[in-house]
Amino acid sequence: MGKGSGFGKVILFGEHFVVHGLPGIVSAIDSTTDAEVKKTIGEISITDERRGAKGYVGEKKAQQLESIDRMLKAMGFEPKAVAFNIWLGGNLPGFSGLGASAASSVAIARAIADEFNLRLSDERINEIAYEAEKAYAGTPSGIDNTAATYGGLLWFKRNLNGANDIEKISLRQPVEIVIGSTGIVANTKAMVEDVAERKKKNPQKYGQIFKEAEKLAFTAKKALLEFDLKKVGELMNKNHSLLQEIEVSCKELDCLVDLALQQGAFGAKLTGGGGGGCMFALTPTKALQEKVAQAIEKAGHQVLRTKIGVEKL
Ligand code: MEV
Repeated sequence: MGKGSGFGKVILFGEHFVVHGLPGIVSAIDSTTDAEVKKTIGEISITDERRGAKGYVGEKKAQQLESIDRMLKAMGFEPKAVAFNIWLGGNLPGFSGLGASAASSVAIARAIADEFNLRLSDERINEIAYEAEKAYAGTPSGIDNTAATYGGLLWFKRNLNGANDIEKISLRQPVEIVIGSTGIVANTKAMVEDVAERKKKNPQKYGQIFKEAEKLAFTAKKALLEFDLKKVGELMNKNHSLLQEIEVSCKELDCLVDLALQQGAFGAKLTGGGGGGCMFALTPTKALQEKVAQAIEKAGHQVLRTKIGVEKL
């Protein structure tokens, strides 16, 4: 039996903007999707035991099948000529926004490689997972599969004409965050397409917002390297405003962001595609993390207490 894992993530800065070639900052979290793959005869079967938002597994089923098809082609298999039983589990919940699709693609690609004794590098796994991600995100930037493959805190810039810029950012120490789930399953592909459509219709407005988002990413990188967490929090809030302006937030996300800020979070924003899914709050210290987490739980939402910037997950 072949085994593999992929990390979940939060995007600190730049979701959606990264699709269009702007830089973003992403951190893997200490939760993974794990896969096991066993060769069989007949058809591919999937046993999906990931916990998550209600309906997540069912709603993603068609995209999941397409992603496996794409993955097999990228690995050089004739999809109809191979069959395996795939098991999916792990402690990364199937909440939209946490890179669950990319984590599962990386986990499955690694498990298939293991089962068939292919010795694939991380770079190759990342390329294969990127192909699989197209089923979930249409024109993905590659930021989610990159975080799912390598882990850590990363600067990412999509490069249309060659290798993407991927740079490790070292934090002085890992920082506590709280992830809050709206419980709404979102469709990243539709969200990405809608942004591209609106950008085309309003080039001036979007041009300005995109310029700000680019500046924000560079300032945020500096603040992270200087470990200026107050500044990082402020910039996260600004990033959330920009995401509101491009219409990818929703009232449920905004409510959780406001709640976290009221409780003293240094900053809070949606993470990932938006339109539901998750937000996260920067809550340095265990005590602040607990305060914010409990307030979100009290409001009836599921939370994850975790950290950004963990080097070795
Ligand atoms: C999704 O986690 C992040 C998006 O920017 C899509 C992508 O980068 O592929 C919305």
